[in-house]
Amino acid sequence: MSNVLEILSSAFWDEQYKVKAPWDLNSPNPVFTYLIKNNIINPSKLIILGSGKGYDAVLASESGFEVTAVDFSVEAINYSIELSKKFNAKVNFINSDMFEIDSNLNNTFDLLYEYVTYCAIEPSKRNQFINLVKRLLKPGGRFITVLFPIDGRGGGPPFSVNQNEFIKILSADFKLELMIKNIPSVKPRKGKEVLLIFRKAE
Ligand SMILES: C[S@@+](CC[C@H](N)C(=O)[O-])C[C@H]1O[C@@H](n2cnc3c(N)ncnc32)[C@H](O)[C@@H]1O
Repeated sequence: MSNVLEILSSAFWDEQYKVKAPWDLNSPNPVFTYLIKNNIINPSKLIILGSGKGYDAVLASESGFEVTAVDFSVEAINYSIELSKKFNAKVNFINSDMFEIDSNLNNTFDLLYEYVTYCAIEPSKRNQFINLVKRLLKPGGRFITVLFPIDGRGGGPPFSVNQNEFIKILSADFKLELMIKNIPSVKPRKGKEVLLIFRKAE
């Protein structure tokens, strides 16, 4: 699709948002909605990494969560701010490279959620991403991911994720609490994603 340096930059993502963001659902991820509606996650301190246009962040805020949402695309954050105003939602939007999030936020979140962000970063940064998840969550906090794409596709972004490898890597510091494959995915992603919830060691 494009070279790795472009993928790493916020300018690349800004450009995507300006032209057409093919991953964008124009609404919250139905799997995230399912988690809230079924009380699988409950109001608490939540951080969303790679929050895109902010639909999930706004939904969570409206549902009583205290939400921080991080994205380094200024286009995405500006859209999110407008969306939150429209819904009168209170979200702490941070326009920053997630890998540079202030260490003051370490160990402060009950929940961390990512959707199609892990597959969007350059694969050599995956360990760094997992370390970031570890440092942001409180002991006992939960990491929620709808891991996509698990169908072994080539190229990227989105870069393929091996579900078993992912679980194995996480097992050093997290306990897998929930895994559901039969989730209300959007049609084109049906069977290509899995809901995983991990708990960070106390
Ligand atoms: C494929 S989009 C997914 C956005 C959103 N989660 C969604 O479901 O629509 C990936 C997002 O991650 C953001 N992103 C990628 N690398 C990032 C980084 N290092 N720091 C912050 N945001 C990043 C991009 O700007 C983009 O908004």
